[in-house]
Amino acid sequence: MTPDLSVDLAPGHKRGLLLRNPVMPASGTFSWGFEFEHHFGPEGIRRLGAVVSKGVTMEPRAGNRQPRVAETPAGMLNSIGLQNVGIEACVRDLAPQWARWETPVIVNVAGDTIDEFGEMARMLDGVPGVAALELNISCPNVDTGGMEIGQSVEASARATSAAVRNTDLPVIVKLTPNVTDPVALARACEAEGAAAICAINTVLGMAIDVDRRRPVLPRARGGLSGPAIKPIALRIVYDVAGAVRIPVIGCGGIATSRDALEFLMAGASAVQVGTATFANPRALLDVVEGLEAWCAAEGVARIADIIGCARPAPVA
Ligand SMILES: Cc1cc2nc3c(=O)[nH]c(=O)nc-3n(C[C@H](O)[C@H](O)[C@H](O)COP(=O)(O)O)c2cc1C
Repeated sequence: MTPDLSVDLAPGHKRGLLLRNPVMPASGTFSWGFEFEHHFGPEGIRRLGAVVSKGVTMEPRAGNRQPRVAETPAGMLNSIGLQNVGIEACVRDLAPQWARWETPVIVNVAGDTIDEFGEMARMLDGVPGVAALELNISCPNVDTGGMEIGQSVEASARATSAAVRNTDLPVIVKLTPNVTDPVALARACEAEGAAAICAINTVLGMAIDVDRRRPVLPRARGGLSGPAIKPIALRIVYDVAGAVRIPVIGCGGIATSRDALEFLMAGASAVQVGTATFANPRALLDVVEGLEAWCAAEGVARIADIIGCARPAPVA
């Protein structure tokens, strides 16, 4: 029997967000999805639970100065600076192409201000081809918005509320790990109507070029991703999933189906694969196939049944 890999990321929400499996790309590591389609064909896109776009801002952005990435022993640092086409081109040119896919597309939205989160949510509301929003209140590589909002419980709540009030689409809020208490952020976003939480964005880091005696990245700091951050991401998912009722999407260092299983067992309802795709463009498909094979081998009929199975039993 083929295992049922479907998961519900917005139970009780008027629009819902039912995925055929819990695997999707992490924002910014999959561009707009068309390269993947070119590589693996429409069948490749159909194998994914969802597609997540790179971060979209109100105006088009050229991004930060080069170099924008630096390799680290167990991952990479990036400082892309949200290079993107802007929301108008996203609605006009990209969404109609997404609308041909059977796979839901989640648009990652990065406002400079709280009001911009509301405004962009309004602009994306009802647009064919857009299934949900992911609020990027956690980008470490921009001067305004981003992590500045995501490091404040109050500002995170206000950004969530601004988006939720302006759209019928499910709103996922993506947390930064660069705080002492991610649980407080998650609870505040849930209280303002977030449909789900995504954890985590990149961990602030830096690297220095000893020969040049300068930081490798022009802005000195960058976001660390890849295997190095997996234990941090897993701990945050475990803590957040124990504190909110809404679904949690795990992200950070996931490269294999066993990594994905760790996140699901910690309480995530779905997973995002980011940096791993740069080394292995097939990583997302490998994770889907690995989950299918694991469920079949373990006699797990529904993958939803293993969500949170590594958590302590609730006290009666
Ligand atoms: C090159 C690059 C670009 C990224 N761009 C975005 C972005 O536009 N929006 C966002 O929310 N996260 C962005 N991220 C963060 C990832 O979505 C993800 O949260 C992070 O990389 C951790 O997952 P990973 O270890 O699997 O890469 C980016 C990460 C990388 C490496």
